[in-house]
Amino acid sequence: MPQDTPIFPVASAIPASWLYESFRQANEQERRVPSLIKLNVGEPAFGPPESVGRSLADAALDGRTRYIDVQGLHELRESISDKLDTANDIDAPVDHLFVTPGSCEGLAALMRTLAEPGGEILIPEIHWPVHLQQALLAGLRPVFYGLDDSLAPDPESIRDVSTANTRILLLNSPANPTGALLGRDVLERLYELAAERGWQIVSDEAYEDFAFESEHLSTASLERDVEPSRRLVNSVFTFSKGLAMTGYRLGYVAVGRPEVCSAMRMVQESSIIAPSAPIQYAGLEAMRARESLAENHKYVRANRDSVLPTLVEAGLLPALPGGGWYAMVDVSASGLSGEEFTAELLRDEHVAVVPGSGFSAQPEFGADGTLRPVLPGGIASRLVRIAFCVDHGQLAAGVERIVSLVEQRRKG
Ligand SMILES: Cc1ncc(COP(=O)(O)O)c(C=O)c1O
Repeated sequence: MPQDTPIFPVASAIPASWLYESFRQANEQERRVPSLIKLNVGEPAFGPPESVGRSLADAALDGRTRYIDVQGLHELRESISDKLDTANDIDAPVDHLFVTPGSCEGLAALMRTLAEPGGEILIPEIHWPVHLQQALLAGLRPVFYGLDDSLAPDPESIRDVSTANTRILLLNSPANPTGALLGRDVLERLYELAAERGWQIVSDEAYEDFAFESEHLSTASLERDVEPSRRLVNSVFTFSKGLAMTGYRLGYVAVGRPEVCSAMRMVQESSIIAPSAPIQYAGLEAMRARESLAENHKYVRANRDSVLPTLVEAGLLPALPGGGWYAMVDVSASGLSGEEFTAELLRDEHVAVVPGSGFSAQPEFGADGTLRPVLPGGIASRLVRIAFCVDHGQLAAGVERIVSLVEQRRKG
């Protein structure tokens, strides 16, 4: 083929996440305005326990730096297995556990593990854009399900949009970006539907430590007593949120069925060989330092309870988010779209948020199945996402400026 033959790999039709773009624009503005208030990224006000950093340094200096098992350090997996048993009510033996470089990689590996030609994955219509990117890269066809008034998954819609090709139901509770928290009733209905149809479930529980309205319920706890060969749920967790270890890149996956474990081992081997050894020793220490979880939970909850009511009172937020680190703020009263509002807020009020259109884009496919370029848009276009895990004073000032910009625009 001639050297100038154009190439159209699938990845070129999938945009870099709008989260990344907003991150880039905010950083650019921060260079001009160092006092910029950043509500655009889920980077918490608190940091990891100090002993975690020391364990990382010790492991590196002691030479515990070699390749290890593709599924992760045995001691770490033992400790994770105990935590899943006591904190999540999940039965996950060490050979069903995978330590991963961030839960992001765990999710991507799971999607590749479960993908079948022509297989469809059910994703919420307002979703974390990385879930969509991962599904498309795995060759899965995304199908979007509707949400109820509280932005939680609507089981009726899930039933309606599913097809004979549905293979995976993606659940994320507490959810990014909606803050929706799934209660037992809905979760049981969704599990029963998946069992009836033979779907696998990918349960992203990154924000498990930030459930506010009720206790966090792990999807896999519903099948604790089910024979492993009949299990549906693959659960994904991270050290990034509860213990603020975002830059460590450490997470884990608890796989349900033995045959999914074998396939996932191959996927992990072919993409990472094994997760980083020193980071896992830091993770081992983090499993012992879990007492800071309660304090971190309290911090984010206090932010939610003391600052977000201003948005509810101003009619910009229907209710406080049930969990997680984010809220979707309705800025339509300003007469601006989420994208326009975000740009004006960044330029004039020096507050960074993320436009909702990046969380509700839906890809289209040509008649031959090729993916058309994915554009931002959809039902969240009049919303913007804010992160409320940040410094309390920054959050309060940022929210005040959001309300004030909506008011100015409404009057003017
Ligand atoms: C819903 C959700 N899942 C997974 C992740 C991935 O986190 P990490 O790769 O840091 O574990 C994030 C990060 O923002 C997230 O919001």
